Amino acid sequence: MKEIPVIILGIGGVGQALVQQIVESRGLLASRAQTHFYVVALADSSSWIWDPAGIDDEKLLAAISAKRRHESLSPTPKPDPAAMLDQASAAGMERAIVVDVTATDGMEPMIDHALQLGYGVAMANKKALAGDWAAAQRYFNHRRVRHESTVGGGQPVIATLRYLLDVNDPIFQIEGQLSGTLGFICGALDKGMALSQAIAEAKAKGFTEPDPREDLGGKDVMRKVLILGRMAGWPLEAAEISVESLYTPELASLTIDEFMTAAPSLDAEMKRRVAAAAADGNVLRYVAEVGPDGGKVGLKPLPAGSPLANLKYISFRTGRYYDEPLMIGGKGAGVEMTAAGVLGDMIGLVREQNQ
Ligand SMILES: NC(=O)c1ccc[n+]([C@@H]2O[C@H](COP(=O)([O-])OP(=O)(O)OC[C@H]3O[C@@H](n4cnc5c(N)ncnc54)[C@H](OP(=O)(O)O)[C@@H]3O)[C@@H](O)[C@H]2O)c1
Repeated sequence: MKEIPVIILGIGGVGQALVQQIVESRGLLASRAQTHFYVVALADSSSWIWDPAGIDDEKLLAAISAKRRHESLSPTPKPDPAAMLDQASAAGMERAIVVDVTATDGMEPMIDHALQLGYGVAMANKKALAGDWAAAQRYFNHRRVRHESTVGGGQPVIATLRYLLDVNDPIFQIEGQLSGTLGFICGALDKGMALSQAIAEAKAKGFTEPDPREDLGGKDVMRKVLILGRMAGWPLEAAEISVESLYTPELASLTIDEFMTAAPSLDAEMKRRVAAAAADGNVLRYVAEVGPDGGKVGLKPLPAGSPLANLKYISFRTGRYYDEPLMIGGKGAGVEMTAAGVLGDMIGLVREQNQ
């Protein structure tokens, strides 16, 4: 049995689901991967739990219950991430896996330190992969960095792209609907709902970030398609991907409440665009596209009733899949699937390190 220490940074929706899945999969992990993950550190933005012998499952489940109740994780203040890793290294831990399921900027020094120590890194946090290329490139195709859940919310998108690259199938273009939130809003527009109403409904259902402009601005989708393009071998910068925001610049500086009140000012133009698309038998979908020279992210008319209009999909146009691009589709959202993608990354890292 391989005993693998795990350090988990971030214990929000994805982190909680991941801890639960690690605990629930113990038997399966032992039989399928001959692996026992023992969580030595669990941290949120201000505190941490540390036990070099492994936090027992009861304590892990109690910790996620506390976070679900919005209580503090632990009374112990968190050291900076590099100090956490040093503590693990000083305790003799080798081949540990560090998991970044935060949504924060500035994790690069931690990732670099983990890699220097020979540790593996699994992340659902896109930020380090979507920064300036000069800084981000060292994480792409690094054998100890995995990031399946950064795109596709757990669908095996990154694994498929890695496979295409491994078998020398040249990638020409990648396209997809990469936001569950914007997919929901587009679906509501099809049904005749006003944009402001669709935004309010998505917010009420918890599908948007607390500030819906974070979804509507398209930046998160841009990060995803940038990651895919970079993996495909194109050294793109964020500025080479044009992004259509679904709100106007005048609404950018408002508070969230003010924005929700002002959102009906967006309705008339969107209604016109939905009607123009419908007149041609189309519906609007928020689509991301990237190729070697850059990409674009924004609303695109797609034939109503076509598979692409009705699926959360990603397609790869390659040398071998040229006329009929290789497609991955299906549900791809939510913390359970995202956490499963991270767990899959952790197993992949163990297998890789075994070779
Ligand atoms: N939710 C999804 O379906 C989904 C899908 C794909 C990818 N992702 C990505 O997965 C990541 C996590 O998403 P989420 O929904 O779980 O986010 P979340 O609910 O906002 O949780 C983020 C967690 O990170 C913690 N944190 C912040 N700064 C930290 C630091 N410096 N060190 C350690 N922990 C820190 C927060 O602590 P506090 O609890 O103290 O605030 C919180 O526990 C994000 O990058 C997101 O983009 C999410």
